[in-house]
Amino acid sequence: MDNLIIPRHVAIILDGNGRWAKSKGMPRNYGHVRGAKNLERICEDAWDIGIKYLTVYLFSTENWRRSRDEVDALMALFRSYTKTCIRTAMDNNMKVRVIGDPSAFADDLQESLKVLEETSKNNTGLNFQIALNYGSRDEITRAVRNIAQECAGGSLNALDITEEVISDHLDTRGIPDPDLLIRTSGEQRLSNYLLWQLAYTEFYFTEVPWPAFDRQELLRAIEKYNSRDRRYGGLKEE
Ligand code: IPE
Ligand code: IPE
Ligand code: MG
Repeated sequence: MDNLIIPRHVAIILDGNGRWAKSKGMPRNYGHVRGAKNLERICEDAWDIGIKYLTVYLFSTENWRRSRDEVDALMALFRSYTKTCIRTAMDNNMKVRVIGDPSAFADDLQESLKVLEETSKNNTGLNFQIALNYGSRDEITRAVRNIAQECAGGSLNALDITEEVISDHLDTRGIPDPDLLIRTSGEQRLSNYLLWQLAYTEFYFTEVPWPAFDRQELLRAIEKYNSRDRRYGGLKEE
């Protein structure tokens, strides 16, 4: 891996917890528990490999459509995961940020998420973004609403709205766009993830379900990324 170019920002759609559990004859929720454990490991591996930003999709604005039981189990898991994450963030010097709209979550979970962000905000290791009740269209809608309000209030002129202004109103403000997007478990769609931010990102899809995705798989994705010819609309020098 010595001469690999390491992507600065990796975004992951961690998919397949349910199918992985089913293949083991276990309930879907067991897959979520193991998926959360795996996330802790991958954070360490990512930093160790040299990745500076990691953004993971944990719960989409569409995931409320799942059964009541599954949503409840996921909320319980986020509660315990957030508490564990406060500890691991401090142990591993990780700076954690929530993207999405956590206002739909129970008060205690919102509070823990704030504590997690606040406690870890001066850490200088991995920048770890967790997407919770995240949907790209919702994020863009909220941004447009805020921009419109600034225009109405007179602090912003409509003609001064640039791509940069829009980026600065997204939940990901200040975070560089992802270089590599990984989706596990075979599906090849974005499911409303980072639509604006992924404009020039390389995509990597793997059949491996999230609970089985390990350091080796991450390195495989990075190797594949290295074989791509990133042009950004131009041509590279020969
Ligand atoms: C990803 O695994 C985790 C969440 C979306 C919360 P899934 O729960 O989507 O697992 P599959 O895709 O049904 O196997
Ligand atoms: C996307 O996975 C959302 C997360 C990983 C949190 P889903 O499994 O919910 O996506 P769809 O429904 O198959 O598109
Ligand atoms: Mg899924």
